[in-house]
Amino acid sequence: MGTTEHDDETRFTDPVEENRALFPTESRVAIAGHPLHAMLVAFPIALTMSVLGADLLFWWTGDGFWARAAGWAAFGAFLMGVIAGITGTVELLIVPGIRNRSASWTHFVLAVMLLSILGANWVLRIGAPEAAVLPTGLLLSVLAAGMTAITGWHGGKLVFDYQIGTSTDGSSRPRG
Ligand code: HEM
Repeated sequence: MGTTEHDDETRFTDPVEENRALFPTESRVAIAGHPLHAMLVAFPIALTMSVLGADLLFWWTGDGFWARAAGWAAFGAFLMGVIAGITGTVELLIVPGIRNRSASWTHFVLAVMLLSILGANWVLRIGAPEAAVLPTGLLLSVLAAGMTAITGWHGGKLVFDYQIGTSTDGSSRPRG
C-alpha cells in the first residue's frame, strides 16, 4: 500500500514543536494588551535613519549643524534602542511561548548586534561631531541602517508569522 501526502505529514511532525506552538505568547509588557516594545521600536528605527540622513547632508553641504544633529540623533537612537531592548528582553524572559521559540532568540542576537553599532556610532561623535562623520561615522550609519532594517523586518516576522506577542490561542500558529 502506498503512503498518502497526509501520512507523510504525520510522520514528519515534531511533537516538541507541536506543543511549543500552543504555549501562550501574549505580551505581558503591555498597556491594555498593546505591547510596549512595538510602540518603542519606532524611536530607534526613525532616529537611526535620521543619523544617516544628517551624515549625508553634512557630507553634501559641509554645514556643521548636520554633524551636530547626527550626534544628538545617534545618542537618541542608542538610548531609545536600549529602552526598547529592555522591554523586549523582559518579554522574552517572562513569557514562555516567546522564550521557547528559537526565532525570538534570533531577533535578540540581531538586536544586541544593532545596539552595539548604535552605541559605537554615538560614542565616536562625543566631543568631535564633525571630525567623526567622514568616513567612520557615515560607514557606521550605513551599517546601523542596514541592521535596523534586518532587525525590524525580523521583529515583524515574529509577530506576523509566529503571532509572538499576540493573544491568539496558538491554533493558527505555524508548527515549524
Ligand atoms: C534587545 C533585545 C530585543 C528583544 C529581546 C526583542 C524582542 C521582541 C519580541 C519578543 C517581539 C514580539 C512582540 C512583543 O512581544 O512585543 C519583538 C517585536 C519587534 N521588535 Fe524587537 N526585541 C529587541 C530589540 C529590538 C530592536 C532594537 C528593534 C529595532 C529595530 C526591534 C524591532 C522590533 C519590531 C519592528 C518588532 C515588531 C513589532 C510589531 O509589529 O508588533 N526589536 N521584539
